[in-house]
Amino acid sequence: MNLADSAFLRACRRQPVPHTPVWYMRQAGRSLPEYLRVREGVPMLTACSTPDLIVEITMQPVRRYGVDAAIFFSDIVVPLKAIGVDLDIKPGVGPVVAEPIRDAKGLDALRPLEPGDVPYITEAVKALTTELGDTPLIGFAGAPFTLGSYLIEGGPSKNHDRTKAMMYGEPELWHALMEKLSDIVLQHLRIQIDAGASAVQLFDSWVGAVAPDDYREFILPHTRRIFEGVADVPRIHFGVGTGELLGVLGEAGADVVGVDWRVPLDEAARRVGPGKALQGNLDPAILLAPWEVVERKAREVLRRGEAAEGHVFNLGHGVLPDTDPDQLKRLTDLVHEHRR
Ligand code: CP3
Repeated sequence: MNLADSAFLRACRRQPVPHTPVWYMRQAGRSLPEYLRVREGVPMLTACSTPDLIVEITMQPVRRYGVDAAIFFSDIVVPLKAIGVDLDIKPGVGPVVAEPIRDAKGLDALRPLEPGDVPYITEAVKALTTELGDTPLIGFAGAPFTLGSYLIEGGPSKNHDRTKAMMYGEPELWHALMEKLSDIVLQHLRIQIDAGASAVQLFDSWVGAVAPDDYREFILPHTRRIFEGVADVPRIHFGVGTGELLGVLGEAGADVVGVDWRVPLDEAARRVGPGKALQGNLDPAILLAPWEVVERKAREVLRRGEAAEGHVFNLGHGVLPDTDPDQLKRLTDLVHEHRR
């Protein structure tokens, strides 16, 4: 076996696999006691800029679960912090921005990202690819809409009202913001790929708030440009609540479309259309139920996933902090027994 033949990369390319590959969004994090130990007294953004900690935290779930891919430990707002945006990640809240961007002058806060702004990313990716050997490393970035929402709202938002107000009310300003963010996102992904990441995931977590026609007009051109710039590796595109968007997400240029738990994978395959692999989609809350329930529901996901041209098993969103790691270990083993 070598890296290029790993089950994860083969599934992304819709090639036959020895077993269904699996990894979990937020697999490194608060559900792991070893994570809580190394993070004690260390603020999130400090952890994200310290290569030794990035490497250790990224490796923790790989060691414990034997997942088929590692995801780089960082956060979607790290490149914004690196270019000087005044923000912090508040525990239990999420990213909070000191001076929200609401007008053309606010855009001046965004300058292009240079590799020299994030030397700790390059260093950690290089160390990780050596340590991981044949296990692929997934690099990631937040998508322009989701990053834009944090910048415009100033923090987490339920309905993204101000974000949509700019999108509908000031389309020129909106597109200028999306352009600038796309440049940063593309560079952020390129830095990870150039240092050795084998695949990338674009997290457009909150894009499910937008209707399909509006996605096409206000977001799709920017996402397309990002995916075109990273066509040398498998590209995964993920959002939450995207049931009605799966068709148009299929047009954005990724190789793999991530699906949350609301749409079964066979139906998702129909909506996304041919030529794509799917990733997903066990409801993360199911892991809080007894193992018998997890087992039954996971088998259902695997069965429906056979309708897709390639299937990377994952949760429908990130691992919840209260998840028992033993449940994830058993789930990983169960997925590995599955033959398509
Ligand atoms: O998946 C992984 O294991 C890799 C690490 C990762 C983190 N954030 C670490 C993190 C990834 C891929 C992200 C992406 C991210 N960050 C997204 C997209 C994915 C998604 O969940 O939809 C978003 C929307 C963010 C913004 C963000 N950062 C939120 C909403 C939070 C949670 C706030 C909270 O405490 O509930 C964060 C903080 C964050 N990012 C934590 C971790 C491990 C928790 C911070 C801590 O442990 O102190």
